[in-house]
Amino acid sequence: MPLTTPEKLFPGAYREGYAIGAFNVNNMEIIQGIMEAAQEEKSPVILQVSAGARKYAGHHYIVKMVEAAVGQSSVPVVLHLDHGANFEICKEVIDGGFTSVMIDGSHLPFEENIAVTRKVVEYAHPRGVWVEAELGQMAGIEEHVKAEKSICTDPDQAVEFVERTGCDSLAVAIGTSHGAYKFKGEPHLDFERLQKISKLLPEFPLVLHGASSVPPELVEMANRYGGKIAGARGVPEEMLREAAQMGVCKINIDTDLRLAITATLRKVLHENPAEFDPRKFLGPARQAVKEMVQRKIRLVLGSSGKA
Ligand code: G3H
Ligand code: 13P
Ligand code: ZN
Repeated sequence: MPLTTPEKLFPGAYREGYAIGAFNVNNMEIIQGIMEAAQEEKSPVILQVSAGARKYAGHHYIVKMVEAAVGQSSVPVVLHLDHGANFEICKEVIDGGFTSVMIDGSHLPFEENIAVTRKVVEYAHPRGVWVEAELGQMAGIEEHVKAEKSICTDPDQAVEFVERTGCDSLAVAIGTSHGAYKFKGEPHLDFERLQKISKLLPEFPLVLHGASSVPPELVEMANRYGGKIAGARGVPEEMLREAAQMGVCKINIDTDLRLAITATLRKVLHENPAEFDPRKFLGPARQAVKEMVQRKIRLVLGSSGKA
């Protein structure tokens, strides 16, 4: 099955109140783990590549690995650029085979965010490529954006932004953040704000970044075998299900895959200190990715059987 675009996937998700998982990919085992899960669950999936992933694996490798996965796939797959920092990187990946890009101008003043997003839209649309943009700032750390405090998306500004840019989907800041340390106290998302944005932009797909749940049992497992991950806290899975009923069609997950891999590697290496065949520990890590993605598809996204 060839690569597809969100245009084919989001209307159904919006209508039926489920979301498509966008999982960050950096190497072969992650891609294979995600694809095995998506196929077993008969779920569409978005494979997303950050600038860091592209640098780590190399554009050519990552695209060829995804092509190999998609060539054998019975479910629809989107190849998406995560957090494109400027027009140039978006252009590069559009020219290089991606079917969807995110232009992340969230750190820019409103008018500059509009201008760069508009420019990407004008390049992407004639080439059949989808454009996700972001308005509002999430707390946490991304490669090029370091925000100490979250600045939630203003609903009226969101309408103006979508109208003036022509973007296809919008990432909103409602209290999530990247990484494993999302909340100091009780988790809280601004659902009232999300509802308002969704009402003002009917049938328009919204995107939730920073949507890992940081399962405590995984953190405990990593720590039991030598890790030092303290005070980690994610978004409760039921909150994400709720968001999927309010116009959120794409849910981004990276940290939970990282935790699944790290906890598994630590355990296997600890229990088999004489082992030095990488397949003996990367294989279980790939299986852990698969199980995590399967859990997300069933409990968070609701996209089983939607392929
Ligand atoms: O939003 C950030 C994603 O988790 C990707 O992280 O830039 O370290 O690859 P990265
Ligand atoms: P997490 O760090 O919560 O997994 O978020 C990933 C993300 O938003 C990638 O764009
Ligand atoms: Zn993100």
